Parts: sequence; structure tokens; C-alpha cells
Amino acid sequence: MSSKQSAGSTQQGISQQPPAASGQDKRQATSDNLLSTNLFGIKMNSPLMSASGTYGYGKEFANFYNLSMLGAIVVKGITMKPRAGNSGQRLVETPAGLINSIGLENPGVEGFLVQEMPFLRESGVPVIVNISGNTPEEYAALAERLDGEAGIHALEVNISCPNVKQGGMAFGASCDMAAAVTADVRKRTRLPIIVKLSPNVTDIASIARAVEAEGADGISLINTLLGMGIDIRNKKPYLDNTFGGLSGPAVKPVALRMVWQVAGAVNIPIVGMGGISTWQDAVEFYLAGASAIAIGTANFFNPLAVPEIIEGVKAYLHSEGMQHIGELVGAARPK
Ligand SMILES: Cc1cc2nc3c(=O)[nH]c(=O)nc-3n(C[C@H](O)[C@H](O)[C@H](O)COP(=O)(O)O)c2cc1C
Repeated sequence: MSSKQSAGSTQQGISQQPPAASGQDKRQATSDNLLSTNLFGIKMNSPLMSASGTYGYGKEFANFYNLSMLGAIVVKGITMKPRAGNSGQRLVETPAGLINSIGLENPGVEGFLVQEMPFLRESGVPVIVNISGNTPEEYAALAERLDGEAGIHALEVNISCPNVKQGGMAFGASCDMAAAVTADVRKRTRLPIIVKLSPNVTDIASIARAVEAEGADGISLINTLLGMGIDIRNKKPYLDNTFGGLSGPAVKPVALRMVWQVAGAVNIPIVGMGGISTWQDAVEFYLAGASAIAIGTANFFNPLAVPEIIEGVKAYLHSEGMQHIGELVGAARPK
């Protein structure tokens, strides 16, 4: 079921929970309901997810906190066949971020279903599978394969990976290609589809409108910004691929600007990400119009980023006298 069809949804796709009756009960219920959300027809405990590729398949983080506080786990990008990823050094640290060139290392769809899905199903947290392909047909075939698999609630269609030679970012940089991939995937799955856009474009709003027109249920953004680093002793780029994807606090103002622009261009829900490291960052993204947010690079330098951000957002909502996080979504936008 798409967000457009979900009962009780706002335009941004967040359902407003009814306030509880009175007294102690009311305080308890309000606190529990503060973040609970229905997005893309998925019941979520909070509109906060993991960003693909920064959270593996969730296992490592289960040692730090109860994963059920997440609205969904968005898993590392999956392809039809297993991929070994790129050669050489694959991560470069920058003063306020990370440049990665992983190259979509993953066990392939069959390996993922056998090795990773049992744990994810057991966790009870909704799973969103991030998918990639070299051709629109490959995306569509992957979508069809995942359709109906127990525990999988939605697909995130990655048309924005900067670290692969074929497909990836090339699809996300052209309205026609972005639309073609979305249309092909739409035809082959009943799962909600969230199309993940690349920030490495001149007109993000047109691409967002193109994928909305082809039946995307939501849009996530941003993927990483193309960047590079040079080893001054070696006198060579650090990465075998020369360029990689920049993420982390350095990209936050760019990501926020793009979420703002896309929120003004489409009527489907937006999952905002890019450099979110604190609850204050998260609140900014909701205010800009993101119905949900995802935490990426922050998971690397603070494994407790997710619970800390959730607690901070809740305290902020209380301090603002708000009954539900839906009241925050888009609140900074011109009326
Ligand atoms: C190491 C690494 C691997 C990533 N792998 C993927 C991936 O497989 N698929 C995808 O759509 N995005 C991938 N991303 C992009 C993130 O999901 C996110 O869009 C981006 O990093 C911006 O958010 P952040 O600044 O909070 O990390 C990856 C990012 C990093 C740092």
C-alpha cells in the first residue's frame, strides 16, 4: 500500500496519533505515541532509520541498544549477484566527513536472503532493502525477486551510487533514466518503493518530480557527494577509483537544502539524510519537510547516535509542547 493510500496519513505521509484520554494515562500514551508513525503503509516506532551501507544488516548495533526503536533498518545495497567491491583503500577521513569507495560489496540477493534475513526477521524491525543494478532490467528483476519475501517492507532504489562503473549515479543524474528505472521497478513489485537520489546534479527537484510521476511512493536523499583525496607523499589519489562519496557532517547543509527543495516539489514523503549527527540536526530535517530521517556516517563515530538522537528529539517535542512528531514535519516551510 502506498503512503497515498494509508488511512489517516497527512500529505507528508505521517499519521497523526490520537491524543490519549487524561491524567497519568495521557502522559504515558503521549510519550509512547510521540514518535510512532505510519509511513509507506509501514507501522514504525519512530520516523528514524539507518542509512544504507552504514549499518550493515543491523547485527553489530544490536549489541548497543534495542533495534526496535528504529522505524526501519535500511540494509546495505544488494545486487543480483554477489560483489566483492572496489580494490585498494576504500575509506578516506576528512576533517568533517568520510570519503568512501566501497563499490557495493554485498553477498548478492540470494546470499542476503539466506544469511541476513533470518536475524532481521527475528528483530521484528521493518526492513527496507536498498537495491542496485547495472541496467533498469536488473533493478526490476531484483524488485520482483524480493516481492513477497517475509519481513521485507519496502525497497530503496539506489540510483545514486558514485562508486560503480555502470548504472548507479548515472541513472540518478538524468530525469529520463531515473524515470525509466522507477517505472520498471514499479511494474514488478507491490512493495512500496523509495527512490534514492544523487546530490551530484544541477536540478534535484526535476528528478524528484520525474520519479514521483512514475509511481515512487517516497524519495530518500541525499546519497554521497562526489569527492577525492590525494596522498601527498605517494602523490597519488587515495582511492583506486580516484573519486569517492563524501558523507558526514560536512554534507549536512547541502543535504538540508536539497530536502527543502524536494519537499517543495513533490507530494510523496521524503526520507532525509546527510550528515545527521545530533538531535538538533534531525529536528532541522523534519522542519525542512522530511517525514523521516536516516542516520549514516554518525553510526561510525558514535555507535549510540540513534538512541541519543531519538531521546533528544523526544525532549525537544516535549519542550515545544507538541503531541506528535508529525507536527514538526515541514513546520519551517512557508505556509
Ligand atoms: C561506507 C558507506 C557505504 C554506503 N553504502 C551505500 C549503499 O550501499 N547504498 C546507498 O544507497 N547508499 C550508501 N551510502 C550512502 C548513505 O546511505 C547516505 O546516503 C550518505 O552517507 C549520507 O548520509 P550520512 O552523511 O549520514 O552518512 C553509503 C555511505 C557510506 C559512508
